[in-house]
Amino acid sequence: MTSRTLPAGFLWGGAVAAHQVEGAYNVDGKGLSVADVMTAAGTHDERKITQGVQPGEFYPNHEAVDFYHRYPEDVKLFAEMGFKSFRTSIAWSRIFPQGDELEPNEAGLAFYDRLFDECHKYGIEPVVTLSHFEMPYHLVTAYGGFRSRKTITFFTRFARAVFTRYRDKVKYWLTFNEINNQTNYDREFTLFTNSGFQVKPGENAEAVMYQAAHYEVVASALAVQIAHSINPDFQVGAMVAFTPVYPATDNPRDVFKAQRAMQSRFWFSDVQVEGQYPSWLTHYFQAKKYDLDITPADLANLKKGTVEYLGFSYYMSFATQANDHEDDQFSYNESQDLVTNQFVPQSDWGWQVDPEGLRYALNWMNDRYHLPLFVVENGIGAIDHLTADHEVHDQYRIDYLREHIEQMELAMTEDGVEVMGYTPWSAIDIVSASTGQLSKRYGFIYVDRNDDGSGSLARYRKDSFYWYQHVIATNGAEL
Ligand code: BG6
Repeated sequence: MTSRTLPAGFLWGGAVAAHQVEGAYNVDGKGLSVADVMTAAGTHDERKITQGVQPGEFYPNHEAVDFYHRYPEDVKLFAEMGFKSFRTSIAWSRIFPQGDELEPNEAGLAFYDRLFDECHKYGIEPVVTLSHFEMPYHLVTAYGGFRSRKTITFFTRFARAVFTRYRDKVKYWLTFNEINNQTNYDREFTLFTNSGFQVKPGENAEAVMYQAAHYEVVASALAVQIAHSINPDFQVGAMVAFTPVYPATDNPRDVFKAQRAMQSRFWFSDVQVEGQYPSWLTHYFQAKKYDLDITPADLANLKKGTVEYLGFSYYMSFATQANDHEDDQFSYNESQDLVTNQFVPQSDWGWQVDPEGLRYALNWMNDRYHLPLFVVENGIGAIDHLTADHEVHDQYRIDYLREHIEQMELAMTEDGVEVMGYTPWSAIDIVSASTGQLSKRYGFIYVDRNDDGSGSLARYRKDSFYWYQHVIATNGAEL
Protein backbone atom coordinates (compact mmCIF):
# COMPACT_ATOMS: atom_id res chain seq x y z
CA MET A 1 0.00 0.00 0.00
CA THR A 2 1.33 3.42 -0.90
CA SER A 3 0.05 6.91 -0.18
CA ARG A 4 1.54 8.62 -3.22
CA THR A 5 -0.92 10.62 -5.29
CA LEU A 6 -0.21 11.53 -8.86
CA PRO A 7 -0.94 14.83 -10.61
CA ALA A 8 -4.55 15.56 -11.62
CA GLY A 9 -5.01 14.79 -15.29
CA PHE A 10 -2.67 11.79 -15.20
CA LEU A 11 -3.69 9.64 -18.16
CA TRP A 12 -4.62 6.32 -16.58
CA GLY A 13 -5.89 3.92 -19.22
CA GLY A 14 -5.13 0.76 -21.13
CA ALA A 15 -3.60 -0.18 -24.47
CA VAL A 16 -4.18 -2.46 -27.43
CA ALA A 17 -3.21 -2.48 -31.10
CA ALA A 18 -5.68 -2.67 -33.98
CA HIS A 19 -4.47 -5.96 -35.43
CA GLN A 20 -4.49 -7.69 -32.04
CA VAL A 21 -8.12 -6.93 -31.24
CA GLU A 22 -10.16 -5.82 -34.23
CA GLY A 23 -10.40 -8.91 -36.42
CA ALA A 24 -12.63 -8.12 -39.44
CA TYR A 25 -9.46 -8.46 -41.46
CA ASN A 26 -11.18 -8.19 -44.82
CA VAL A 27 -14.24 -6.15 -43.90
CA ASP A 28 -15.19 -2.71 -45.33
CA GLY A 29 -12.38 -2.71 -47.84
CA LYS A 30 -9.50 -3.50 -45.48
CA GLY A 31 -6.42 -4.91 -47.20
CA LEU A 32 -4.12 -7.59 -45.82
CA SER A 33 -1.48 -6.45 -43.36
CA VAL A 34 1.71 -8.15 -42.20
CA ALA A 35 -0.22 -9.41 -39.17
CA ASP A 36 -2.68 -11.20 -41.47
CA VAL A 37 -0.03 -13.54 -42.89
CA MET A 38 1.36 -14.75 -39.57
CA THR A 39 0.15 -18.05 -38.14
CA ALA A 40 -0.18 -18.94 -34.45
CA ALA A 41 2.76 -20.46 -32.58
CA GLY A 42 3.22 -22.28 -29.27
CA THR A 43 4.69 -20.77 -26.12
CA HIS A 44 8.31 -21.15 -27.20
CA ASP A 45 8.11 -21.06 -31.02
CA GLU A 46 8.06 -18.28 -33.55
CA ARG A 47 5.04 -17.56 -35.74
CA LYS A 48 5.31 -18.65 -39.36
CA ILE A 49 5.17 -15.92 -42.00
CA THR A 50 3.39 -17.27 -45.08
CA GLN A 51 3.33 -16.02 -48.65
CA GLY A 52 -0.07 -14.34 -48.52
CA VAL A 53 -2.99 -16.13 -46.90
CA GLN A 54 -2.63 -19.88 -47.44
CA PRO A 55 -5.50 -22.39 -47.32
CA GLY A 56 -5.31 -24.74 -44.35
CA GLU A 57 -3.35 -22.30 -42.16
CA PHE A 58 -4.84 -20.59 -39.10
CA TYR A 59 -4.32 -16.84 -38.78
CA PRO A 60 -5.45 -15.67 -35.32
CA ASN A 61 -5.51 -11.96 -36.18
CA HIS A 62 -8.17 -12.46 -38.84
CA GLU A 63 -10.87 -12.54 -36.19
CA ALA A 64 -8.86 -11.62 -33.08
CA VAL A 65 -11.41 -10.67 -30.40
CA ASP A 66 -13.80 -8.98 -32.87
CA PHE A 67 -13.33 -5.50 -31.40
CA TYR A 68 -14.31 -4.12 -34.81
CA HIS A 69 -17.90 -5.11 -34.13
CA ARG A 70 -17.92 -5.15 -30.32
CA TYR A 71 -16.11 -1.89 -29.54
CA PRO A 72 -19.20 -0.17 -28.00
CA GLU A 73 -19.45 -2.90 -25.36
CA ASP A 74 -15.67 -2.85 -24.79
CA VAL A 75 -15.32 0.91 -24.53
CA LYS A 76 -18.18 0.89 -22.04
CA LEU A 77 -16.21 -1.57 -19.92
CA PHE A 78 -13.10 0.65 -20.20
CA ALA A 79 -15.22 3.55 -18.98
CA GLU A 80 -16.47 1.42 -16.09
CA MET A 81 -12.83 0.89 -15.06
CA GLY A 82 -12.44 4.67 -15.12
CA PHE A 83 -10.07 4.95 -18.09
CA LYS A 84 -9.00 8.50 -18.88
CA SER A 85 -7.19 7.35 -22.01
CA PHE A 86 -7.22 4.44 -24.43
CA ARG A 87 -4.25 3.61 -26.59
CA THR A 88 -4.88 1.84 -29.87
CA SER A 89 -3.51 1.99 -33.39
CA ILE A 90 -5.10 2.74 -36.72
CA ALA A 91 -4.81 -0.29 -38.97
CA TRP A 92 -2.90 1.23 -41.89
CA SER A 93 -4.48 -1.25 -44.35
CA ARG A 94 -8.03 -0.15 -43.41
CA ILE A 95 -7.14 3.34 -44.60
CA PHE A 96 -4.86 2.44 -47.52
CA PRO A 97 -5.69 -1.22 -48.24
CA GLN A 98 -2.72 -1.75 -50.55
CA GLY A 99 -0.61 1.01 -49.06
CA ASP A 100 0.23 2.76 -52.33
CA GLU A 101 -3.16 4.20 -53.30
CA LEU A 102 -3.53 7.95 -53.65
CA GLU A 103 -6.87 8.21 -51.84
CA PRO A 104 -7.90 6.70 -48.49
CA ASN A 105 -10.69 4.18 -47.98
CA GLU A 106 -13.70 6.02 -46.57
CA ALA A 107 -15.16 2.99 -44.79
CA GLY A 108 -11.92 2.53 -42.87
CA LEU A 109 -11.80 6.19 -41.85
CA ALA A 110 -15.45 6.02 -40.76
CA PHE A 111 -14.73 3.13 -38.40
CA TYR A 112 -12.20 5.16 -36.42
CA ASP A 113 -14.61 8.11 -36.34
CA ARG A 114 -17.08 5.84 -34.62
CA LEU A 115 -14.47 4.42 -32.26
CA PHE A 116 -13.04 7.79 -31.22
CA ASP A 117 -16.55 9.24 -30.80
CA GLU A 118 -17.38 6.34 -28.55
CA CYS A 119 -14.29 7.06 -26.42
CA HIS A 120 -15.14 10.76 -26.14
CA LYS A 121 -18.67 9.87 -25.07
CA TYR A 122 -17.07 8.67 -21.81
CA GLY A 123 -14.35 11.31 -21.60
CA ILE A 124 -11.68 8.86 -22.72
CA GLU A 125 -8.78 10.43 -24.61
CA PRO A 126 -7.54 8.31 -27.54
CA VAL A 127 -3.76 7.80 -27.79
CA VAL A 128 -3.09 6.60 -31.30
CA THR A 129 -0.15 4.76 -32.83
CA LEU A 130 0.25 5.14 -36.57
CA SER A 131 2.20 1.97 -37.23
CA HIS A 132 1.91 -0.92 -34.81
CA PHE A 133 3.16 -4.02 -36.67
CA GLU A 134 0.48 -3.71 -39.36
CA MET A 135 1.99 -2.44 -42.60
CA PRO A 136 -0.14 -3.22 -45.68
CA TYR A 137 1.12 -6.54 -47.01
CA HIS A 138 1.20 -5.26 -50.58
CA LEU A 139 4.00 -2.86 -49.56
CA VAL A 140 5.99 -5.93 -48.49
CA THR A 141 5.56 -7.82 -51.73
CA ALA A 142 5.81 -4.86 -54.12
CA TYR A 143 8.45 -2.70 -52.39
CA GLY A 144 10.13 -4.78 -49.67
CA GLY A 145 8.52 -2.61 -46.99
CA PHE A 146 10.95 -0.07 -45.57
CA ARG A 147 13.78 -1.44 -47.69
CA SER A 148 12.41 1.12 -50.12
CA ARG A 149 12.58 4.88 -49.73
CA LYS A 150 9.18 4.99 -51.46
CA THR A 151 7.59 3.60 -48.32
CA ILE A 152 8.35 6.93 -46.61
CA THR A 153 5.90 8.54 -49.03
CA PHE A 154 3.25 5.87 -48.46
CA PHE A 155 3.58 6.25 -44.70
CA THR A 156 3.41 10.04 -44.71
CA ARG A 157 0.38 9.96 -47.01
CA PHE A 158 -1.32 7.69 -44.49
CA ALA A 159 -0.24 9.95 -41.62
CA ARG A 160 -1.57 13.05 -43.38
CA ALA A 161 -4.92 11.36 -44.09
CA VAL A 162 -5.52 10.38 -40.47
CA PHE A 163 -4.14 13.60 -38.95
CA THR A 164 -6.55 15.52 -41.19
CA ARG A 165 -9.53 13.32 -40.51
CA TYR A 166 -9.10 13.12 -36.73
CA ARG A 167 -7.82 16.67 -36.30
CA ASP A 168 -10.37 17.35 -33.57
CA LYS A 169 -10.69 13.82 -32.16
CA VAL A 170 -7.14 12.74 -31.36
CA LYS A 171 -4.50 14.81 -29.63
CA TYR A 172 -1.84 12.23 -28.65
CA TRP A 173 -0.05 10.35 -31.43
CA LEU A 174 2.84 7.90 -31.59
CA THR A 175 4.64 7.22 -34.87
CA PHE A 176 6.18 3.70 -34.89
CA ASN A 177 5.47 1.17 -32.16
CA GLU A 178 8.60 -0.30 -30.58
CA ILE A 179 10.69 0.89 -33.50
CA ASN A 180 13.76 -0.53 -31.76
CA ASN A 181 12.68 -4.19 -31.63
CA GLN A 182 14.61 -4.66 -34.84
CA THR A 183 17.84 -4.18 -32.92
CA ASN A 184 17.44 -7.97 -32.83
CA TYR A 185 18.06 -8.18 -36.58
CA ASP A 186 18.53 -11.96 -36.55
CA ARG A 187 14.88 -12.44 -35.68
CA GLU A 188 12.53 -12.70 -38.64
CA PHE A 189 9.54 -11.53 -36.58
CA THR A 190 11.06 -8.19 -35.58
CA LEU A 191 12.22 -7.22 -39.06
CA PHE A 192 8.91 -8.25 -40.60
CA THR A 193 6.69 -6.49 -38.05
CA ASN A 194 8.82 -3.34 -37.69
CA SER A 195 9.93 -2.87 -41.27
CA GLY A 196 8.03 -5.26 -43.55
CA PHE A 197 10.90 -7.25 -44.99
CA GLN A 198 12.61 -10.61 -44.74
CA VAL A 199 16.33 -11.17 -45.13
CA LYS A 200 17.50 -12.75 -48.38
CA PRO A 201 20.21 -15.41 -48.49
CA GLY A 202 23.67 -13.86 -48.29
CA GLU A 203 22.42 -10.49 -47.08
CA ASN A 204 23.83 -8.64 -44.09
CA ALA A 205 20.71 -8.38 -41.94
CA GLU A 206 22.19 -5.68 -39.71
CA ALA A 207 22.98 -3.40 -42.64
CA VAL A 208 19.52 -3.81 -44.17
CA MET A 209 17.95 -3.13 -40.78
CA TYR A 210 19.90 0.11 -40.37
CA GLN A 211 18.81 1.26 -43.82
CA ALA A 212 15.14 0.46 -43.22
CA ALA A 213 15.22 2.01 -39.77
CA HIS A 214 16.78 5.15 -41.21
CA TYR A 215 13.84 5.48 -43.61
CA GLU A 216 11.51 5.00 -40.62
CA VAL A 217 13.06 7.72 -38.50
CA VAL A 218 12.86 10.04 -41.51
CA ALA A 219 9.21 9.04 -42.04
CA SER A 220 8.57 9.70 -38.35
CA ALA A 221 10.21 13.15 -38.56
CA LEU A 222 8.15 14.04 -41.63
CA ALA A 223 4.98 12.87 -39.88
CA VAL A 224 5.75 15.15 -36.92
CA GLN A 225 6.06 18.10 -39.28
CA ILE A 226 2.85 17.23 -41.12
CA ALA A 227 1.02 16.81 -37.81
CA HIS A 228 1.89 20.31 -36.67
CA SER A 229 0.94 21.86 -39.97
CA ILE A 230 -2.51 20.31 -39.52
CA ASN A 231 -3.00 20.96 -35.82
CA PRO A 232 -0.36 22.78 -33.77
CA ASP A 233 -1.86 21.31 -30.60
CA PHE A 234 -1.10 17.73 -31.59
CA GLN A 235 1.37 15.96 -29.31
CA VAL A 236 3.44 13.52 -31.33
CA GLY A 237 5.67 11.01 -29.60
CA ALA A 238 8.13 8.29 -30.49
CA MET A 239 7.74 4.82 -29.01
CA VAL A 240 10.47 2.38 -27.98
CA ALA A 241 10.53 -0.95 -26.20
CA PHE A 242 12.44 -0.01 -23.09
CA THR A 243 14.26 -3.14 -22.12
CA PRO A 244 17.28 -2.05 -20.10
CA VAL A 245 20.41 -4.09 -20.69
CA TYR A 246 22.41 -4.51 -17.48
CA PRO A 247 26.02 -5.67 -17.28
CA ALA A 248 26.13 -9.22 -15.91
CA THR A 249 29.11 -8.36 -13.66
CA ASP A 250 31.24 -5.40 -12.61
CA ASN A 251 33.95 -6.41 -15.07
CA PRO A 252 34.56 -3.18 -17.05
CA ARG A 253 34.27 -5.13 -20.29
CA ASP A 254 30.77 -6.23 -19.31
CA VAL A 255 29.91 -2.69 -18.33
CA PHE A 256 31.02 -1.37 -21.70
CA LYS A 257 29.24 -4.19 -23.51
CA ALA A 258 26.05 -3.18 -21.71
CA GLN A 259 26.60 0.44 -22.66
CA ARG A 260 27.03 -0.55 -26.30
CA ALA A 261 23.87 -2.66 -26.03
CA MET A 262 21.94 0.34 -24.69
CA GLN A 263 23.34 2.56 -27.44
CA SER A 264 22.34 -0.06 -30.01
CA ARG A 265 18.80 -0.30 -28.63
CA PHE A 266 18.21 3.42 -28.15
CA TRP A 267 19.83 5.21 -31.07
CA PHE A 268 16.33 5.21 -32.59
CA SER A 269 14.92 7.43 -29.84
CA ASP A 270 18.19 9.42 -29.73
CA VAL A 271 17.53 10.40 -33.35
CA GLN A 272 13.81 10.95 -32.87
CA VAL A 273 14.31 13.13 -29.78
CA GLU A 274 17.54 14.92 -30.63
CA GLY A 275 17.19 15.11 -34.42
CA GLN A 276 20.62 13.72 -35.15
CA TYR A 277 22.58 10.49 -35.21
CA PRO A 278 24.80 9.77 -32.21
CA SER A 279 28.52 9.90 -33.06
CA TRP A 280 29.22 6.30 -32.05
CA LEU A 281 26.75 5.13 -34.70
CA THR A 282 28.08 7.16 -37.62
CA HIS A 283 31.53 5.77 -36.75
CA TYR A 284 30.06 2.29 -36.47
CA PHE A 285 28.61 2.57 -40.00
CA GLN A 286 32.07 3.52 -41.29
CA ALA A 287 33.84 0.74 -39.40
CA LYS A 288 31.38 -1.82 -40.73
CA LYS A 289 31.50 -0.33 -44.23
CA TYR A 290 27.74 0.15 -44.26
CA ASP A 291 27.17 2.51 -47.14
CA LEU A 292 23.69 3.74 -46.29
CA ASP A 293 21.38 6.01 -48.24
CA ILE A 294 21.26 8.93 -45.78
CA THR A 295 20.94 12.25 -47.59
CA PRO A 296 21.53 15.83 -46.38
CA ALA A 297 17.79 16.43 -46.86
CA ASP A 298 17.07 13.48 -44.56
CA LEU A 299 19.36 14.90 -41.90
CA ALA A 300 17.65 18.29 -42.17
CA ASN A 301 14.26 16.64 -41.77
CA LEU A 302 15.38 14.71 -38.72
CA LYS A 303 16.25 18.03 -37.10
CA LYS A 304 12.89 19.57 -38.02
CA GLY A 305 10.77 16.64 -36.90
CA THR A 306 11.76 15.90 -33.32
CA VAL A 307 9.11 14.45 -31.03
CA GLU A 308 7.46 16.12 -28.04
CA TYR A 309 7.24 13.19 -25.72
CA LEU A 310 8.52 9.66 -25.52
CA GLY A 311 6.20 6.69 -25.16
CA PHE A 312 7.65 3.35 -24.20
CA SER A 313 6.71 -0.18 -23.31
CA TYR A 314 8.22 -1.84 -20.28
CA TYR A 315 7.91 -5.56 -19.65
CA MET A 316 11.29 -6.87 -18.54
CA SER A 317 15.03 -6.30 -18.37
CA PHE A 318 17.96 -7.98 -20.11
CA ALA A 319 21.56 -8.62 -19.05
CA THR A 320 24.67 -9.01 -21.18
CA GLN A 321 28.29 -10.04 -20.90
CA ALA A 322 31.34 -9.36 -23.07
CA ASN A 323 32.80 -12.38 -24.82
CA ASP A 324 36.52 -13.15 -25.26
CA HIS A 325 36.73 -11.98 -28.85
CA GLU A 326 34.91 -8.64 -28.99
CA ASP A 327 35.69 -6.49 -32.02
CA ASP A 328 36.72 -2.84 -31.52
CA GLN A 329 33.08 -1.84 -31.66
CA PHE A 330 31.92 -4.34 -29.03
CA SER A 331 29.20 -5.01 -31.63
CA TYR A 332 25.94 -6.03 -30.01
CA ASN A 333 24.04 -8.95 -31.49
CA GLU A 334 20.91 -9.38 -29.39
CA SER A 335 20.25 -12.92 -30.54
CA GLN A 336 23.63 -14.04 -29.09
CA ASP A 337 24.71 -11.59 -26.42
CA LEU A 338 22.08 -11.87 -23.67
CA VAL A 339 22.51 -13.83 -20.44
CA THR A 340 20.06 -14.78 -17.72
CA ASN A 341 19.82 -12.40 -14.78
CA GLN A 342 19.89 -14.54 -11.62
CA PHE A 343 18.34 -11.75 -9.52
CA VAL A 344 14.97 -11.55 -11.23
CA PRO A 345 12.25 -14.17 -11.78
CA GLN A 346 10.90 -15.14 -15.19
CA SER A 347 7.35 -15.31 -16.53
CA ASP A 348 6.06 -18.54 -18.08
CA TRP A 349 7.30 -17.15 -21.41
CA GLY A 350 10.81 -16.54 -20.04
CA TRP A 351 10.45 -12.76 -19.71
CA GLN A 352 12.58 -11.43 -16.82
CA VAL A 353 10.21 -9.64 -14.46
CA ASP A 354 11.92 -6.62 -12.90
CA PRO A 355 9.74 -3.84 -11.44
CA GLU A 356 12.73 -1.79 -10.28
CA GLY A 357 13.87 -1.74 -13.88
CA LEU A 358 10.92 0.54 -14.59
CA ARG A 359 12.25 3.16 -12.15
CA TYR A 360 15.66 2.74 -13.76
CA ALA A 361 14.07 3.17 -17.20
CA LEU A 362 12.25 6.35 -16.23
CA ASN A 363 15.36 7.88 -14.69
CA TRP A 364 17.56 6.86 -17.61
CA MET A 365 15.23 8.40 -20.19
CA ASN A 366 14.60 11.47 -18.08
CA ASP A 367 18.32 12.20 -17.82
CA ARG A 368 18.94 11.52 -21.49
CA TYR A 369 15.94 13.06 -23.21
CA HIS A 370 14.48 15.72 -20.90
CA LEU A 371 11.02 15.10 -22.30
CA PRO A 372 7.74 14.00 -20.73
CA LEU A 373 7.51 10.20 -20.70
CA PHE A 374 4.44 8.05 -21.21
CA VAL A 375 4.29 4.39 -20.10
CA VAL A 376 2.18 3.16 -23.01
CA GLU A 377 2.60 -0.58 -22.31
CA ASN A 378 3.36 -2.62 -19.21
CA GLY A 379 1.91 -5.97 -18.25
CA ILE A 380 2.32 -9.70 -17.94
CA GLY A 381 1.21 -12.45 -20.28
CA ALA A 382 -0.21 -15.31 -18.24
CA ILE A 383 -2.55 -18.29 -18.45
CA ASP A 384 -5.88 -17.31 -16.87
CA HIS A 385 -8.59 -19.69 -15.69
CA LEU A 386 -12.24 -18.80 -16.09
CA THR A 387 -14.27 -20.28 -13.24
CA ALA A 388 -17.73 -21.76 -13.67
CA ASP A 389 -19.08 -18.44 -12.33
CA HIS A 390 -17.20 -16.54 -15.01
CA GLU A 391 -14.60 -15.10 -12.69
CA VAL A 392 -10.84 -14.87 -13.19
CA HIS A 393 -8.67 -14.71 -10.08
CA ASP A 394 -5.58 -13.13 -11.59
CA GLN A 395 -3.74 -12.10 -8.44
CA TYR A 396 -0.40 -12.58 -10.28
CA ARG A 397 -1.40 -9.80 -12.72
CA ILE A 398 -2.43 -7.51 -9.87
CA ASP A 399 0.91 -8.17 -8.14
CA TYR A 400 2.87 -7.47 -11.32
CA LEU A 401 1.05 -4.23 -12.04
CA ARG A 402 1.11 -3.05 -8.43
CA GLU A 403 4.87 -3.55 -8.17
CA HIS A 404 5.44 -1.69 -11.43
CA ILE A 405 3.11 1.20 -10.59
CA GLU A 406 4.89 1.54 -7.23
CA GLN A 407 8.19 1.97 -9.04
CA MET A 408 6.68 4.43 -11.51
CA GLU A 409 5.30 6.47 -8.61
CA LEU A 410 8.69 6.45 -6.88
CA ALA A 411 10.30 7.78 -10.05
CA MET A 412 7.69 10.53 -10.20
CA THR A 413 7.53 11.55 -6.57
CA GLU A 414 11.07 10.82 -5.37
CA ASP A 415 13.08 11.38 -8.55
CA GLY A 416 11.02 14.13 -10.19
CA VAL A 417 10.43 12.33 -13.48
CA GLU A 418 7.52 13.73 -15.51
CA VAL A 419 5.20 10.91 -16.56
CA MET A 420 2.11 11.77 -18.61
CA GLY A 421 0.19 8.57 -18.15
CA TYR A 422 0.08 4.84 -17.79
CA THR A 423 -1.74 2.58 -20.27
CA PRO A 424 -0.97 -1.02 -19.31
CA TRP A 425 -1.03 -3.86 -21.78
CA SER A 426 -3.67 -4.72 -22.30
CA ALA A 427 -7.08 -3.15 -21.85
CA ILE A 428 -8.72 -6.43 -22.89
CA ASP A 429 -7.35 -9.84 -23.90
CA ILE A 430 -5.60 -9.70 -27.25
CA VAL A 431 -3.83 -11.95 -29.73
CA SER A 432 -0.20 -12.05 -28.60
CA ALA A 433 2.02 -10.30 -31.11
CA SER A 434 4.98 -12.65 -30.88
CA THR A 435 3.20 -16.00 -30.48
CA GLY A 436 -0.29 -15.42 -31.89
CA GLN A 437 -1.70 -17.08 -28.79
CA LEU A 438 -4.90 -16.00 -27.07
CA SER A 439 -3.86 -17.98 -24.02
CA LYS A 440 -0.98 -15.57 -23.35
CA ARG A 441 -3.47 -13.23 -21.74
CA TYR A 442 -2.77 -9.65 -20.72
CA GLY A 443 -6.19 -8.03 -20.30
CA PHE A 444 -8.32 -6.75 -17.45
CA ILE A 445 -11.23 -8.19 -19.41
CA TYR A 446 -11.30 -11.87 -20.23
CA VAL A 447 -12.42 -12.82 -23.74
CA ASP A 448 -13.81 -16.30 -24.24
CA ARG A 449 -11.64 -17.28 -27.15
CA ASN A 450 -9.07 -20.03 -27.42
CA ASP A 451 -5.84 -20.48 -29.32
CA ASP A 452 -7.58 -22.51 -32.02
CA GLY A 453 -10.18 -19.79 -32.64
CA SER A 454 -13.02 -21.50 -30.75
CA GLY A 455 -15.04 -19.68 -28.06
CA SER A 456 -18.06 -17.43 -27.73
CA LEU A 457 -16.13 -14.12 -27.64
CA ALA A 458 -18.09 -13.18 -24.50
CA ARG A 459 -16.38 -10.68 -22.19
CA TYR A 460 -15.88 -11.16 -18.41
CA ARG A 461 -14.35 -8.84 -15.82
CA LYS A 462 -11.25 -10.28 -14.12
CA ASP A 463 -10.27 -9.54 -10.51
CA SER A 464 -7.65 -7.15 -11.92
CA PHE A 465 -10.50 -5.16 -13.52
CA TYR A 466 -11.89 -4.22 -10.08
CA TRP A 467 -8.42 -3.68 -8.63
CA TYR A 468 -7.43 -1.30 -11.44
CA GLN A 469 -10.76 0.52 -11.18
CA HIS A 470 -9.84 1.33 -7.57
CA VAL A 471 -6.30 2.38 -8.52
CA ILE A 472 -7.70 4.87 -11.01
CA ALA A 473 -10.41 6.08 -8.62
CA THR A 474 -7.73 6.91 -6.02
CA ASN A 475 -5.39 8.38 -8.69
CA GLY A 476 -2.78 5.81 -7.76
CA ALA A 477 -2.86 6.43 -4.01
CA GLU A 478 -4.21 2.98 -3.20
CA LEU A 479 -2.62 0.06 -4.93
C1 BG6 B 1 4.87 -5.31 -27.36
C2 BG6 B 1 3.92 -4.95 -28.45
O1 BG6 B 1 5.92 -5.96 -27.98
O2 BG6 B 1 4.51 -6.20 -26.39
C3 BG6 B 1 2.56 -5.54 -28.34
O3 BG6 B 1 3.86 -3.56 -28.69
C4 BG6 B 1 2.65 -6.93 -27.73
O4 BG6 B 1 1.97 -5.52 -29.61
C5 BG6 B 1 3.23 -6.80 -26.34
O5 BG6 B 1 1.46 -7.63 -27.71
C6 BG6 B 1 3.37 -8.11 -25.61
O6 BG6 B 1 4.09 -9.01 -26.40
P1 BG6 B 1 3.53 -10.42 -26.82
O7 BG6 B 1 4.44 -10.90 -27.85
O8 BG6 B 1 3.52 -11.24 -25.59
O9 BG6 B 1 2.14 -10.19 -27.34
